Amino acid sequence: MSILIENLSKNFGTFKALDHVNLEIKTGSLVALVGPSGSGKSTLLRVIAGLDIPNSGRIWLSGKNATSLSIQEREIGFVFQNYALFKHMTVYENIAFGLDIRNIDSFIISNRVKQLLQLIQLEKFSDRYPNQLSGGQRQRVALARALAIEPKVLLLDEPFGALDVKVRKDLRNWLRNLHEQVPVTTVFVTHDHQEAMEVANEIVVFQKGCVEQIGKPQDVYDNPKKGFSITNSSIYMNFPLLHLEQSSTNL
Ligand SMILES: Nc1ncnc2c1ncn2[C@@H]1O[C@H](COP(=O)(O)OP(=O)(O)OP(=O)(O)O)[C@@H](O)[C@H]1O
Ligand SMILES: [Mg+2]
Repeated sequence: MSILIENLSKNFGTFKALDHVNLEIKTGSLVALVGPSGSGKSTLLRVIAGLDIPNSGRIWLSGKNATSLSIQEREIGFVFQNYALFKHMTVYENIAFGLDIRNIDSFIISNRVKQLLQLIQLEKFSDRYPNQLSGGQRQRVALARALAIEPKVLLLDEPFGALDVKVRKDLRNWLRNLHEQVPVTTVFVTHDHQEAMEVANEIVVFQKGCVEQIGKPQDVYDNPKKGFSITNSSIYMNFPLLHLEQSSTNL
């Protein structure tokens, strides 16, 4: 499914979190959304998902105006910052949740959950509760839960944000491979430029509620605009925490 964002604005009081955003995301692409803290990345994902209503502008999904569709009608899977698993449900129940509420036949649900457990390599963990899993395993379950409804679009807001470098690296490879197997149009937010360069086939740089730059990773790396700075071998944005993260991970 393609996503077309047309002149989209979202205000919080007098503050413009999204300021006339225009953006086209082609079917099957894997897009990294980067930019300083507060630049509007999460707001954009929330508006695409239907969790927030824009003040003006339109969202087109596969050429259809989706601006006033409900969350469920949009067929979008998402994993948001701090979007925890349901603690009182097992891994199986968490993954099955979106199918259960759509009243899908239990036999179909069971097959689908088994496939997804295989995909996230947690077949033996289906009866565990979230607090019996590692952080990386929980993230994989969150992704499986988002994929269960066979979404046409996958939105990931810093899906690997809180994880250590090794797990992050594994999951980043895993996401790339997953996208090759199941080429769902995917937009993921990251503060880690190395991650954006390695995983995405397109990078969108956000700045103060606007798209500042769009391009192939190499093009953005070679010709960065203000929001994407490069020094010698390392890349960083004008976002102080990223410098700390990079220096601690030797990126
Ligand atoms: N519900 C809200 N009410 C008021 N202001 C909000 C609300 N949600 C977001 N904002 C403001 O809108 C701006 C954009 O927020 P957003 O969460 O989209 O930033 P972000 O780019 O995702 O930042 P980060 O990288 O820190 O996650 C910020 O200045 C934020 O304070
Ligand atoms: Mg955010």
